Formats: sequence, C-alpha cells, structure tokens
Amino acid sequence: MDIKKIRKEFPVTKKYAYLDNACIGPLSYRATAYMNKFVDDMARCGGINEDRWVEDVNKTRAMAARLLNADPSEIAFTKNTSEGISFVANGLGWSISDNVVITDVEFPANVYPWMNLKDRWVQIKFAAEDDAGRIPFEKIEKLVDDKTKVISVSFVEFTSGFRNDLKSIANLCKKRGVVFVVDGIQGLGALELDVKKIGVDFLSADGHKWLLSPEGIGIFYARDRSLEKLTVREVGWASVVDKENYLDYNFTLRPDASRFECGSLNTLGIYGLMGSLELILEIGIKEIEERVLDLTDHLVNGLENKGYKIFSSRRKGDRSGIVSFYSEHQDLASVRNTLKSWGIIVNLRDGRIRVSPHFYNTHEEIDRLLRHLP
Ligand SMILES: Cc1ncc(COP(=O)(O)O)c(C=O)c1O
Repeated sequence: MDIKKIRKEFPVTKKYAYLDNACIGPLSYRATAYMNKFVDDMARCGGINEDRWVEDVNKTRAMAARLLNADPSEIAFTKNTSEGISFVANGLGWSISDNVVITDVEFPANVYPWMNLKDRWVQIKFAAEDDAGRIPFEKIEKLVDDKTKVISVSFVEFTSGFRNDLKSIANLCKKRGVVFVVDGIQGLGALELDVKKIGVDFLSADGHKWLLSPEGIGIFYARDRSLEKLTVREVGWASVVDKENYLDYNFTLRPDASRFECGSLNTLGIYGLMGSLELILEIGIKEIEERVLDLTDHLVNGLENKGYKIFSSRRKGDRSGIVSFYSEHQDLASVRNTLKSWGIIVNLRDGRIRVSPHFYNTHEEIDRLLRHLP
C-alpha cells in the first residue's frame, strides 16, 4: 500500500489526525470529484445526460456487489441503514408471539424497526454483552426457540468494536430456519465480508462511515433466494419491471433487489459512493483490513503501556477497526476535547473513548494520539 499516495486522496489528513471513522468517514478527492462532476453536469445540462447517470448507478451497484461477493441483482440503494432493516422488519409475515433475537448493544437502527412491530405482538430477545465487551455466540444460540423468526446483529458493535461471529450465527439460522439480518455499517469498507460464504439473508449499511461516502446513500443486500420472503411495503413508479411505461400501470415488481428502489435515486450520493468503492476495491479489502487491524494493535499496545484499560476484545476473530478504552482516573470528555484542540479527532461512546482508524491513517498519527493522552 502506497500510503503517501493514499493520503493525498484525503484532504482531511492535512489538518487532522482523524481517528473517528466509526462516526463519519471523510470523503476522498476521488469521491468529491465524481460528485462535483455530477453537480456540474446537472447545472449545465439538466437531465440531458441521464443515460450516463444510469450507467454509473449500475457500475456502482456492481462494485458494491463485488465488495460483498454478491450479485448486482442482489443490491438495492437505500437512504440509510435504518431503511434497509425496516424493509425486512415490515416485509416479513409475522405470527403472534414470534420473536427477534438481537443484542443489547445494537445501535437503535437495528432496534426500533423491530420494536415497531409491537402491534403484531412480536417480541424482542436481547443477548447481553459481557464484561469483556463480547457477545459470545452461545448467548445468542440460547435465546433461539421455535418462535424465533429473525436474528439481527451488527457486523461490528458500535461501542465496543466487537465483531460478531457471523458464520456461526448464519449456520444456526440455517439449521433453525431463521432469517439472518446484518447491520453492516461498522465494518463494511474496513473488513472483509463475504455474504455468500457466510450465508447472510439481508444486510444493510449506509455509506457515511468506513465506506467513506456521503450520508444518505446506503446499500441493501437481499440474497436472491431470500428476496421473496419480503413483501415490498414501500413502492413507487420505479419498483416495477417496465418502469418507463408510465401510463401502463402494470404493477409487476422487478424480479431483483432493485424493487426496493421505489423512485428517483440519490444519484449525487451514488456518485460519491462510486468514488469510494473504486478506491477501496483498487487497494483491496483484504489489504485494508490488515492495515486497520495493524493500526489498532499498535494503538492498543501504546494504551496499555500508558495504563489505560481496553474494553474492546482483542481476541483473534473479535477485533475490528474500533478500539474502546477508559481510565478511572481521567475525565474522558475533557480528554476528548483536549485531543480535539490538538487536531486529534476521536469520540466518546458509552462512557469510554472510541478510536477508529482507517487505512489512510498512520502509526505516526496513533503515536501522536498516545503522546497527547494524559
Ligand atoms: C451500528 C450502526 N448502525 C447504524 C448506524 C446509522 O444508521 P443510519 O444509516 O440509518 O443513519 C450507526 C451509526 O450512525 C451505527 O453505528
């Protein structure tokens, strides 16, 4: 990885040691260039070049599919993570006292869509995070019973950075006939994820974190053979096969995941995503994961030497791009603010400091953070 060249792509690196990708990832020049070109085109030519936009949308769809090892027909663009999870929650057929198994540390995007099914008497079972920042697979397994319809977990938990054992959960789902849903936002773009190999039914992720894309453009993966499990609750002119035959009123849904794209798309956001995906695929997700984990290992070493307590599990298989740590002797909110005044950007979650470096970050930036920590 040519880190000098990569850093030139990210203007944020000029001013900040930006270590908060789990909150909002910065845009690259590649992404902004595509977006600017689109804005300029629309300003100068209106919709004259729309055919080219459609081509680029499909190019981006193919790249999103490549990142996940999916087929482009299994990808829909959404407005965010919450929307994709809601497609599943609202689209499945529920019976009284069916239940959904999630964890007790999910971001609300993967909680409220299930709570919203209260009027259908759907129950939620929470697998609890333990004191070591882990949610052992066995805890999830124990909650599954004959009324479990869905297991829905984050690829990576947003406070601790714990990487769920997706493969074991998927195997369990297969064995018990349960639908497997993944909130992918805290890993996609930083860690390898092969939805085919794992056996995920549905995955949803917005672009604004590790995918280094604008807010409001999300990716929804619907496994081909799971698509028909969902009734499409939000439809519009673009949901159907012959969408440009406007007055035909032939309400036949498209045969693939694009049936979830009910109307005009966030083309500007898609152009940003196109730039980011291009960059991520060029560098290679395997190389990116190795670099992200190496940076977090370096950070954890330094933190331990300074006497900080690491909450994130560092076991092989559990690690991600998020490191969560604390100290009983420090006011962490003021530590975070002091770091910010030095141009070192980290965040606070659940009473701990959360640091989340991406591939464009360096050991030097981690060392700078360590030097400025009290
Ligand atoms: C695990 C997780 N899911 C989802 C989101 C965001 O949801 P949405 O894309 O709907 O804004 C976040 C953070 O903002 C998150 O950490």
